[in-house]
Amino acid sequence: MRRRDAAVVRAAFHATPVFVAKAEGAVIEDVDGNRFIDFAGGIGCLNTGHRAPRVVDAIRRQLDRFLHTSFNVLPYESYIALAERLNTITPGRFAKKTVLVNSGAEAVENAIKIARAYTKRPAILAFEDAFHGRTYMAMAATSKTHPYKAGFEPFPGDVYRVPFAYCYRCSYSLQYPSCEVHCARHIEDTFKRVVAAESVAAVIVEPVMGEGGFITPPAEFFPILSEICRKHGILLIADEVQSGFARTGALFACERLSLEPDLITMAKSLSGGLPLAAVTGRAEIMDAPGPGGLGGTFGGNPAACEAALAVLDMIESEDLCARANHLGDRFCKRAAEWQSRWELVGEVRGLGAMQALELVRSRETRAPAEEETKQVSQYCYEHGLITITAGSYGNVIRLLMPLVITDSQMDEALDVLESALATVWEKKGAVAQLA
Ligand SMILES: Cc1ncc(COP(=O)(O)O)c(C=O)c1O
Repeated sequence: MRRRDAAVVRAAFHATPVFVAKAEGAVIEDVDGNRFIDFAGGIGCLNTGHRAPRVVDAIRRQLDRFLHTSFNVLPYESYIALAERLNTITPGRFAKKTVLVNSGAEAVENAIKIARAYTKRPAILAFEDAFHGRTYMAMAATSKTHPYKAGFEPFPGDVYRVPFAYCYRCSYSLQYPSCEVHCARHIEDTFKRVVAAESVAAVIVEPVMGEGGFITPPAEFFPILSEICRKHGILLIADEVQSGFARTGALFACERLSLEPDLITMAKSLSGGLPLAAVTGRAEIMDAPGPGGLGGTFGGNPAACEAALAVLDMIESEDLCARANHLGDRFCKRAAEWQSRWELVGEVRGLGAMQALELVRSRETRAPAEEETKQVSQYCYEHGLITITAGSYGNVIRLLMPLVITDSQMDEALDVLESALATVWEKKGAVAQLA
């Protein structure tokens, strides 16, 4: 840790002071020989698990052939095969094209470039609580101020923000369903009072919000939003960087939420642990930028493309979508008990295995329990479970375990989480009594 602090910037934050020696499936071993169940999956990159054998084999085979040519200079087949595959498996039965890049943020940057090139309009609409990455345009589309935006101003212009369907903390203080999904409908009002509809190139949205706290909108939200976009010729970009690749019980969360986006951004679990990201979308939109307008030195690295093809095979042959639903159900049963026992557990929510607990100081006020959330996370790693938090208020514990986790590992992990919640809740009670 001393070496780390001396050599590495403090901004490259790490949540857990555990140094990894090796990892397999859903288990990590640290340099001292301690074993941990991994509920973080490298921030949702390991739906197929650490070192999935068929992914490692595919990478190894590529290492023996060639490592890099840059697709912009010399093409190779795996890039094309992956593009064909993504064009087929992403939502929407229309002709599609794909560009491969290196990170989620870069995918977002490119989706916005493509949308602007196609529509010849400047503005982008993004949501409160959204996270789209740390590069400038992605950061402009991101909502949370600390630590992502504060101090890095000014941001690129023409990004406008509207509330998301975060029903537990509705920005309009309304209640679902009597609200009639006001947040989605109110976008029409934004076009009158904030930015003209004909100036808007695209709406960018995470179908299930990730860093924002695993927020799934009600069923009506996306049909209403899609209709508004269609009416005004605005493109819909679905950012599936975190929600993609079986996490929500479908290959893409869009499928579960009746959303057929024009463009979709993907990264994280696409390539089983190697850096790779993609934008896939309607062919005529994707082809709006001219030759040389998109790409980069490393985009679509050959080893990462081979890994991604193996990941997609594995999701299909091992039915990881069904597995995600099974794990989600297993979690929900336990979490419902916790919610009935401890006021700390304000809301249990999610889709498939993309599940989370929002922790609050009081059910009535819903005051975010940020400190308690940190304590739960710390208790977990001290007892063999790696977790990460989320939410604009830092009070959400999210589940991003590999979907290949066994039932007994999952139960063991949930036992740790349960005792973490119990310990933090009891400690809170003891402190209150002392006061
Ligand atoms: C929805 C979403 N978009 C974009 C990003 C940025 O991805 P990356 O960290 O690979 O740049 C993230 C990362 O967490 C994300 O969750």
